[in-house]
Amino acid sequence: MQVSSNTIEVLTVEDYARFLAKRTVKMRVSEVRQLLKWAEGREVISFGGGLPDPRIYQVEELAEIAKTIILEERHKVLQYGSTEGLPALRDQIAKFINRYGIKVDGIENIIITTGSQQGLDLIGRILIDPGDVVLVEIPTYIAAINAFNVYYPRFQGIHMDNDGMIVDELEDTIKRFKNEGKRVKFVYTVPTCQNPAGLSLSEDRRKHLVELAEEFDFLIVEDDPYSYLIFDREPPRPIKTYDTSGRVIYMSTFSKILAPSLRVGFIVGDKKVIDKIALAKQATDLCTSTLSQLIAREALRREIVDKQIKNSISLYKMKRDLMLEALAKYMPHGCKWTKPIGGMFILAYAPEGVDTKKMLQKALRRGVAYVPGHGFFVDGSGANTMRLNFTYPSEDQIDRGISVLAEIIREETMRC
Ligand SMILES: Cc1ncc(COP(=O)(O)O)c(C=O)c1O
Repeated sequence: MQVSSNTIEVLTVEDYARFLAKRTVKMRVSEVRQLLKWAEGREVISFGGGLPDPRIYQVEELAEIAKTIILEERHKVLQYGSTEGLPALRDQIAKFINRYGIKVDGIENIIITTGSQQGLDLIGRILIDPGDVVLVEIPTYIAAINAFNVYYPRFQGIHMDNDGMIVDELEDTIKRFKNEGKRVKFVYTVPTCQNPAGLSLSEDRRKHLVELAEEFDFLIVEDDPYSYLIFDREPPRPIKTYDTSGRVIYMSTFSKILAPSLRVGFIVGDKKVIDKIALAKQATDLCTSTLSQLIAREALRREIVDKQIKNSISLYKMKRDLMLEALAKYMPHGCKWTKPIGGMFILAYAPEGVDTKKMLQKALRRGVAYVPGHGFFVDGSGANTMRLNFTYPSEDQIDRGISVLAEIIREETMRC
């Protein structure tokens, strides 16, 4: 303890350690996050966050909606809402996802969450006991690892190829666990334009995954923010559309198709699961912001979401193409990268031996930010990878930023 000037003892970090729950050990400060935070507000070309293009927001329309809602629905908008979420929003979501092939019996199959990130935490809460086996893609969404980690799962990674998660490898893994007398609790997957890899699971594999869930008795958590942003073809059918036994818990968000600041996400599943999630949510935030939910409801109803999706698809397709062209133009021999059909991310591989985490400091000094891939790989690999977001930076920044990264990789390769 330290003694302050008026002799009242102030607790030190070590003192607090005596009080903190063991799970807080799992909540580490990420150096990468610190570095990227440092870059915020500076003149840095950011390939870092998964941010929409700022030009895509329909500011006037949203301002008008917010004003109308506050004035005309004042009795609802400033109050708490139900934990499951506003029925009118859930109803609109049911119609919206129906267009992507997901059919629900009613709004009782849907719960609104405070962003999908809360959805991940709630799923961890209701499904994971310490030591439970959770299968994830290699690489997988880092914030899902962090959300689940506090419930002490045992992660097992499954590799990916150009068709997404290798489901045959998943089957072998499940059988191996079974032989050891252990079972897999659930598979967490981002099957479409995955974060961070940008890859999508093929249709055959989607079907096979659902068959395996039935055969080996596990659940599938389908995290799907990006199916609504497919550029080159019809969106792949969500895994949920193949589900006949209630094993798939589907989740998505308005963050990429309306505005991340609203913090409105949703989970779709069997009522029995949704009810448990509602109990868990009640203990965390009682309900998602009513104002945000009403804005999302109106944006769906007035087809503002549809318009944004349409605009995002053409803008992001152009930006993805620019980034792919820049990668092909500048990157040195030995580099490779994924070619997403939509979404927001490309995963780039520097030659073996290049450490993209170490390289980040240099990149930031030269005005370019990205997310080193290592943290996304539960098997500890991926040190030479980096996640590149192509939706946030401007067209001009994409070209300049990639040329800077290519130059740094060239220098790093010579050092290895
Ligand atoms: C795969 C995935 N899941 C969940 C989230 C979190 O989304 P939200 O903003 O709704 O919390 C993201 C955000 O980038 C994501 O990419």
